[in-house]
Order: sequence, then structure tokens, then C-alpha cells
Amino acid sequence: MMVIISKNYNEMSKRAAKLVIDEILKKPNLRLGCPTGQTPSGMYKELVKAYKEKKADFSKVHAYMLDEYYPIKKTSKNSYNYYLNDNFFNHVNIKKENINTINPESKTPKKECVNYEKKLRKNPVDIQILGVGVNGHIGFNEPNSNFNSKTRIVNLTESTIKQNSRFFKNKEQAPKQTITLGIETIMSAKKIILLASGKNKTEAIKHLINEKEDKSWPVTALRKHKNLIVIADKDAVSLLRQSN
Ligand code: F6R
Repeated sequence: MMVIISKNYNEMSKRAAKLVIDEILKKPNLRLGCPTGQTPSGMYKELVKAYKEKKADFSKVHAYMLDEYYPIKKTSKNSYNYYLNDNFFNHVNIKKENINTINPESKTPKKECVNYEKKLRKNPVDIQILGVGVNGHIGFNEPNSNFNSKTRIVNLTESTIKQNSRFFKNKEQAPKQTITLGIETIMSAKKIILLASGKNKTEAIKHLINEKEDKSWPVTALRKHKNLIVIADKDAVSLLRQSN
């Protein structure tokens, strides 16, 4: 595991974008695993900026979603499809046919999961970008998910549904399930770049870097990955032991 400590969120985002751009220069048809959330939005801004300045070319890049609510309209502003289009895909020259999405409107969600898993196993992503939840979740693999889990439908906990309901008209409209890559699926990536910013992520980062593998902290599964880069800002590493 390589740990890069950045002084703040902006520096973390710039470093992550630079790593991705350097990899695209080496391999123009890079397969990139894309998360959503607050953490990667600065990195996506940097990637878009690099494209506009002609420093990055996404014309051969293949993108793969990490997770998505289920069910939700693709066009809903709360869907992860919308987020990725709005923050990244719509602003660079990635080809539509190279964007691999999870269909949140599928009538056969189990089949959707099996097919997505097959696709990723056949052609593992070169780089999986990840954020991490305050409770150590990666993707929607919440605490106590199996480390050998595959792409699947996950029931959201009551508290998460309640938290998310602020983005919807009411609790009834908030999705009750998600589709997420499993932990084993995430581990099949050739390289993983995990981003963390802010004091509320420090407990999760401490478990990842200082502690043992532990199902109650899903992020610790990544300790076994052979090519893991953690880019964290100073706040996110404030609980680390000095020796690390
Ligand atoms: C998002 C995802 C989640 C987030 C995590 C952190 O696609 O899979 O695991 O990475 O919840 O979210 P933020 O970045 O909003 O703090």
C-alpha cells in the first residue's frame, strides 16, 4: 500500500487526477472505475479541466460505474448515472458506447448484477477510484459485508434511507435498495486509488492503514490488494499512529 498525504482537499483531487491522466497517457484505452459522492468531485473537475486544456484525451477510455440506487430513474438528479454525466462524462470526449452503466430502471435487477459482474471479471478495470464512508463502507458494501461479495442488490438500512430522504420529496420516494460492485469485484481491479478527505474519515483510514482485516470495517479488505494507493488529506490521517 502506498499512502500519499496531501495538505488539503484540492491537493488530493489534483494528485488523483494526475495519476489518472498519467495512466491514460500510458494506456489510452484505460478502463476506469468511477465512484460518486463529494470526495471524487474535485478530481472529476481536474480531469475536465485537463481535457479542456488538451492535457487529457478520453476518446478511448472505458468507464465503469461503481454503484447506483435501485430503483431510480436514470434522469433523476439523485441518481449516480446523473452525477457521473453531470460531473464528468458530459464534459469530456468519452464515447457513449464506452460508458458502462448500472441500469437503475432494469426490470430484472438480479440479471443486471450478474451481467455487470461478468463484464468486470472478463475485463477487470485498470484503475478503480474509491471514496470511503464514515463507517468504512466502500461502494455500498456496508459493515459486515462479505469480503467475497459480488455485484449485487443491497437493502439500505432504515437510517440510510432516512438520511437520503432529504434529497427526495419524502421518505417513500427515497430508494430502498442499491446495486453495488461487491468487495471481491472491487478487489479484482488492477490498481485501486482510494481518496479520503476530512476529519470524519479518519477512523476509517486508521482502520485501513493501522489495523487488521475486519469485516466490520469493509475498507480493511483493501489491505490485501497488491496495488493500492491511498491519497488522503491531513485531516483524514489525523488519527494515524506516528510510526506510519
Ligand atoms: C459512492 C460510493 C460511496 C462513497 C462514500 C463516501 O459511489 O460508493 O462508497 O464513496 O459514501 O461518500 P462521500 O465521498 O460523499 O463522502
